[in-house]
Amino acid sequence: MSKAHFGLVGLGVMGENLVLNAERNGFSSVVYNRTYSKTESFLEGKGFGKKIQGAIDLKEFVSKLERPRRILMMIKAGGATDRVIDQISPYLQEGDLLIDGGNSEFRDTERRVAQLESRQFGYIGMGVSGGAKGALEGPSMMPGGTKASYEAIESLVQKMAAQVEDIPCVTYIGPGGSGHFVKTVHNGIEYGIEQILSESYDLMKRVGNMTGNEIADVFCQWNQTEELSSYLVEITEICLRAKDPEDGKDLVEKIIDKAGQKGTGLWTVVSALELGVSVPTIYASLNARVMSSLKKERVEAEKILSSSSSFKFDIGTIENSMAPIQDAVILSCIASYAQGMELLKAASKEYSYNLDMCSIAQIWKGGCIIRSRLLERIQDAFYVDSQLPNLFIDKWFVEQVNRRLPGLVKVVAGASQAGIPVPCFSSTLDYINSYRTSRLPQNLVQAMRDCFGSHTYQRIDKEGTFHTEWIS
Ligand code: 6PG
Repeated sequence: MSKAHFGLVGLGVMGENLVLNAERNGFSSVVYNRTYSKTESFLEGKGFGKKIQGAIDLKEFVSKLERPRRILMMIKAGGATDRVIDQISPYLQEGDLLIDGGNSEFRDTERRVAQLESRQFGYIGMGVSGGAKGALEGPSMMPGGTKASYEAIESLVQKMAAQVEDIPCVTYIGPGGSGHFVKTVHNGIEYGIEQILSESYDLMKRVGNMTGNEIADVFCQWNQTEELSSYLVEITEICLRAKDPEDGKDLVEKIIDKAGQKGTGLWTVVSALELGVSVPTIYASLNARVMSSLKKERVEAEKILSSSSSFKFDIGTIENSMAPIQDAVILSCIASYAQGMELLKAASKEYSYNLDMCSIAQIWKGGCIIRSRLLERIQDAFYVDSQLPNLFIDKWFVEQVNRRLPGLVKVVAGASQAGIPVPCFSSTLDYINSYRTSRLPQNLVQAMRDCFGSHTYQRIDKEGTFHTEWIS
């Protein structure tokens, strides 16, 4: 039998679908899974009749691949990835290439790229986004590593990726762990948008007393607009319309209000703190998940901490697409992207990733979870100015802020009075208000720091560094 073009380790849902995608695009494949029974059932099921062979162990797996070998690992991030690398590398030869398609921490990828490249193997840390369907039909892919390693997989990933106007949603991201860094930030933005949409649903339900179907109708309207047309808005409508087959009631209302997380949102926020980038909308979405996990405590606290939840305010009507909430959602989604892009720019500088913001916006336009029409505007903004300090000062986005800020203010003020948490909306409002304020009260912070700790300060009217003996 002739040697296969492509190898896959890890037959989870993503792995299965990615290998089917590769095979459909003309890359004969060989698959390996730790438990061979999984390989067998895949080959007898979804992989049946396709140019996909199985391997019982890693030695056989490697021997069935043409050289230089291209091996995609779709396994749990962390120790499992290191173990597979250790187990497979004795069988690899110079020039062979491992691709980690999991959600790995970018520093782990930095280390692995350095280790594997020093042994003359190629190593690519590749963010893959799009969930199971995307993996099968065309995901967005964010590969990082050496340029030479990327070139060895370019023909493969360009065919496998989603295509937007015939442009594949994959590009060389940069060296080291940059691919996984970009995927991490993608997920941070994803956390933000998920929370933003959930806050809008909560207001429509609690303030507007709207049914699931009515709220779904609003999401359907939003999905027709340039500002909000996106995959996450689309699936929100689907989730809200789904019924519990047992009683025909809204399924969403049966789900416990505790959101899980696997780490990428947390890593986004930790990186932002490390790099000194302000990402309050993204942080608020992460914190909202943390708060949601305190279910038992919240149930008890509701009994003793008074709330003013009967307060009603104008959230708009279905006819005007819930205008104030729509404004709040649009500005918060823009903030989520803007903060993510800021973080990418800072990381690019700090880690010498040389990220191309325009290309990143381009490859997020299809296949991935945060795909949206807004990315077209984001791409344009970075095309016009690759060094744009913040998305909010691009002309199109300035107009959005000026038009929609009253709506956001109305929603945050009203929600506060109604006692309804809107962490992403209120963080966004503070972010915009802080960013557009030329004089913040940090002069007083500086005074206090100098007063108790002689930390010194600078003055608006003179050059130099000053200290005052504040307490006589
Ligand atoms: C994707 C997703 C996917 C997953 C994340 C977030 O781009 O396909 O980002 O990778 O949804 O791991 O998951 P959590 O919400 O569980 O952290």
